Amino acid sequence: MKKLAIVVGVAVAGTVGLLVQAMYASGKADGGGFLGPGILSAEVNLVLEALLVLGLTFGFYLARSGNIEAHRINQTTWVLVNAVLVALIMVPSIRQAGVENLTELRDAGKWVPWLHGAIGTFAVLAGLWLVLQMNDLLPRHLHIAWWKNLMRLTLAAYWAVALLGLAIYKFWYVG
Ligand code: HEM
Repeated sequence: MKKLAIVVGVAVAGTVGLLVQAMYASGKADGGGFLGPGILSAEVNLVLEALLVLGLTFGFYLARSGNIEAHRINQTTWVLVNAVLVALIMVPSIRQAGVENLTELRDAGKWVPWLHGAIGTFAVLAGLWLVLQMNDLLPRHLHIAWWKNLMRLTLAAYWAVALLGLAIYKFWYVG
């Protein structure tokens, strides 16, 4: 097992999780944010997701320049931070995008969150799979041989999800 990446990743993602819980406990999550018209939890999520795709892209550069151990720690950390944000902020909030009849899907404010959710589910699962495989936590027979292509695809998925997330912020809060 590659311990360092897991320890750093769990520590950073755990801290982010505790801070998000503290935000909810303070009762300020649904109040005004610090960027513009959005609520605080949405803006915290937006800023962290933007940092996250920049961080994962920096990790791409680390891999390309041969710094694989730094790439491992960096990617593991961002994948786990993303999983915490999905579980604590995005899953509870997608209830707002409930669709009662199909005609509502003409409204981009309704279908974009579900597209974001579908690609996001892929990104979370692929990211976690890579983290488990590359840190030697997955049994050998579950290892994906085309992991390099999966890494490229997963990075592209994180980018698509972040850009769709920005669009959701616009639909829900800016109008
Ligand atoms: C968690 C442990 C990880 C390890 C140990 C790892 C390791 C590697 C290695 C060995 C390479 C090949 C570098 C080369 O010789 O070209 C690579 C490339 C890459 N990785 Fe990872 N990786 C990890 C996670 C991830 C994740 C989660 C993502 C996506 C979000 C990712 C995205 C990439 C990309 C985009 C490349 C460049 C592929 C190319 O050459 O075009 N990696 N990684």
